[in-house]
Amino acid sequence: MPDAGGDAHAGWRARTEATLEAALPDPAAEPRRLHAAMRHAALDGGKRMRPLLVYATGTAFGCGEEALDHAAAAVELVHAYSLVHDDLPAMDDDDLRRGKPTVHVAFDEATAILVGDALQSLAFELLAAAPLPATARVAMLAELARAAGVHGMCGGQALDIDATGRAIDADALQRLHVLKTGALLRAAVRLGAIAAGVDAPARARLDDYADALGLAFQVRDDLLDVEGDSATLGKTAGRDAARDKATFPALLGVDAAHARLQTLSAAMDAALSGFGPRADGLRRLARLAVERDR
Ligand code: IPE
Ligand code: IPE
Ligand code: MG
Ligand code: MG
Ligand code: MG
Repeated sequence: MPDAGGDAHAGWRARTEATLEAALPDPAAEPRRLHAAMRHAALDGGKRMRPLLVYATGTAFGCGEEALDHAAAAVELVHAYSLVHDDLPAMDDDDLRRGKPTVHVAFDEATAILVGDALQSLAFELLAAAPLPATARVAMLAELARAAGVHGMCGGQALDIDATGRAIDADALQRLHVLKTGALLRAAVRLGAIAAGVDAPARARLDDYADALGLAFQVRDDLLDVEGDSATLGKTAGRDAARDKATFPALLGVDAAHARLQTLSAAMDAALSGFGPRADGLRRLARLAVERDR
């Protein structure tokens, strides 16, 4: 689908690229192989959905873009790390990512492990230097740490590995998706909200929006693995069935997965309904999450 966010999304993606470029290590300095591999993983690729959520949330509540740059790039760095490790032979064993060879293919496995480690550390270093009051920075660091860890993405990836090749029920599948993918997307919204000083009642509604978006994003990812093509996706389609992964289409069927996306879409609209036009950017990202073709 065309990206209905237009200029705002292009501008936010450019800010993300510039922040990442400035934060990533010099490719001419040693250890050059690690530096090059980190840049391969983080630069020039991906939809930048998590940064877009940080900017859309923060600016909707009056925060300037400069105050959001560190958080936007930090959550993208954690995401990029998660993809590098997700693609490793010991996990999903994929050789194509963002239209390029995966890091362990372009470099080697040891380098890919270190790239993930180093991107994650860099994320927190960058976030700690955000131009915001110390209380906000500490809250953001805690938020991202929890979302990345055992109660978030890492925990979800463990459940995913555990469920591979095995029958699990729909509740277990939803828990897995909420953790492995939902946690970081939710953190992106919450980082924007913390930076903007959003009050508790509005934060609760943003959490409802982010919870629905996080689950929808992975349901769409599962559907695209069935219905999409590798050239558009920039990753190999059909890998989930080949590896017998636990996915929504595999467990509930393609039609039920599409129906679930519609339910989640309505939940996102409902969560944002009280915010008026200021939340239009978040509404556009809700549509992108459920209608995207890559
Ligand atoms: C892919 O994420 C993995 C999931 C968590 C579903 P994205 O679809 O956001 O991947 P990029 O960042 O655009 O490459
Ligand atoms: C990945 O889920 C979630 C992560 C935490 C990286 P997938 O394994 O379905 O993501 P893709 O399809 O490889 O991008
Ligand atoms: Mg995976
Ligand atoms: Mg994968
Ligand atoms: Mg997938």
